Amino acid sequence: MESLKFLLVLVLLPFLVITLVIAENVNGEKRLLVLKHSDVHGEVGGHSRRCSPPHKSKSSNTETQNGATTTLEMRHQGRRHHHHLSPSQQLLSDEARAQSIQSRPTTTAEESAQVPLTSGVKLQTLNYVITIELAAKKRTLIVDTGSDLTWIQCKPCSYCYSQQDPLFDPSLSPSYHPIPCSSPTCTTLPFSPSPSCATPSSTCAYALSYGDGSYTRGDLARDTLTIANATAEGFVFGCGRSNRGLFGGASGLVGLGRSSLSLVSQTSARFGGVFSYCLPSKAYDSSGSLTLGADYSVFRNETQLMFTRMVLNPRVRSFYMLNMTGMSVGGVGIAVASEGGVLIDSGTVITRLPPSVYKAVRGEFLRQFSAYPVAPGFSILDTCFNLTGYDEVEVPTLRMRFEGDVEVRVDVSGALYFVKRDASQVCLALASLAYEDDLGIIGNYQQKNLRVVYDTKQSVVGFAEETCSYS
Ligand SMILES: *[C@@H]1O[C@H](CO)[C@@H](O)[C@H](O)[C@H]1NC(C)=O
Ligand SMILES: *[C@@H]1O[C@H](CO)[C@@H](O)[C@H](O)[C@H]1NC(C)=O
Ligand SMILES: *[C@@H]1O[C@H](CO)[C@@H](O)[C@H](O)[C@H]1NC(C)=O
Ligand SMILES: *[C@@H]1O[C@H](CO)[C@@H](O)[C@H](O)[C@H]1NC(C)=O
Repeated sequence: MESLKFLLVLVLLPFLVITLVIAENVNGEKRLLVLKHSDVHGEVGGHSRRCSPPHKSKSSNTETQNGATTTLEMRHQGRRHHHHLSPSQQLLSDEARAQSIQSRPTTTAEESAQVPLTSGVKLQTLNYVITIELAAKKRTLIVDTGSDLTWIQCKPCSYCYSQQDPLFDPSLSPSYHPIPCSSPTCTTLPFSPSPSCATPSSTCAYALSYGDGSYTRGDLARDTLTIANATAEGFVFGCGRSNRGLFGGASGLVGLGRSSLSLVSQTSARFGGVFSYCLPSKAYDSSGSLTLGADYSVFRNETQLMFTRMVLNPRVRSFYMLNMTGMSVGGVGIAVASEGGVLIDSGTVITRLPPSVYKAVRGEFLRQFSAYPVAPGFSILDTCFNLTGYDEVEVPTLRMRFEGDVEVRVDVSGALYFVKRDASQVCLALASLAYEDDLGIIGNYQQKNLRVVYDTKQSVVGFAEETCSYS
């Protein structure tokens, strides 16, 4: 295969930031990564010793023919100084999540709302965050397509981890209404809360744990949620009174899964059950977007959106599952037979492949990348290189293929994970599942610089290339 040039410069301050400098022959099967060693300065994700100032949330509004459109920024979120997790620990928690995966509408007209979405690195997490308002109070939350309940840490707390924003105090919100345990919203909760419903007006208790051992427990309630300038009154969320785990300094989480409790379902009369995001490749000073609604004119996609069918896996109904049919490494195809489908998830970082697929991908990558010296593995990443001596590196292009002839090119920033600042340990950013029939997962690291559209009504997921730097 020919090597075509797609020049990238890594400017790392203090995390990996990849800037596109020159792009020619964009369809090449290898891309040239330029390593500027004096600047190479960072791990992808987490682990800042620096005290970051609280980031500001920006929100931009765009007007469109179909009415108002508002934009949320999605940021990569990182835990603050109080809770240092090394990248290795963060990847281990990612592994715990991946392993465990194995196991009310308001108005009428369809609108669209878009908020900035950014890397959570500043809040010490490898997940992405947005800023919403609950009862007119701004809070920064992790965006998770792999779960349904939106929750926020609430006062008084029996145990709350440290967060960047002040704790939400329901007693200060006139629009806050606890949900009684006799209410259908409570009795149909998919995750069973405490069965005790002492009196019909007792508050509905919820308890939810995540794959990585994190959990939230508290009261189910309603309050006014504002995303960009779209407001949903009576939004059902969890007021978390006991929360623990890997949420960094975020105030909670936005659940974008498929069940009736998710933000997508609760706002479907308004946004048509459609949302999309574009995850930025840079950890700092850059944001992508989370968009609610089907107004594609607000996207900045550079290629046509291509849609693939969501497959229904009865084992995991609330997940978004796709029929992945193949992958390619530098143009060399690898077949994938995904029986129950692969999960596409914004809350898992590293893509997990069935052992046979991973082995083939890794083997082909190693073959094409054999010019570079190997380095020891890191955490769940077993294929690493020492790129210290190189100014430029030719990286084989990774592609994923899905049912319906949908081909998705993984951005070059999603191919390699920089463990060491001096590029002495740079790893192929993919990992193997333990067993062949485990659920494959497409993680957020491989979804950067893509517009990913989830249409829950049509049951399709669309992909297009998009440079997710809105600022
Ligand atoms: C917010 O949305 C409203 C209607 O939904 C729209 O008229 C308005 O332009 C938007 N606000 C801003 C500041 O763009
Ligand atoms: C972006 O996606 C839309 C929907 O597929 C398409 O009509 C449009 O042409 C795309 N933009 C570019 C530049 O390809
Ligand atoms: C990486 O390679 C450089 C230059 O080739 C060498 O000096 C250095 O010792 C290597 N680092 C590790 C950790 O192997
Ligand atoms: C996935 O797509 C392939 C190719 O279209 C098809 O042959 C296969 O039956 C599909 N698998 C599932 C589980 O739907």
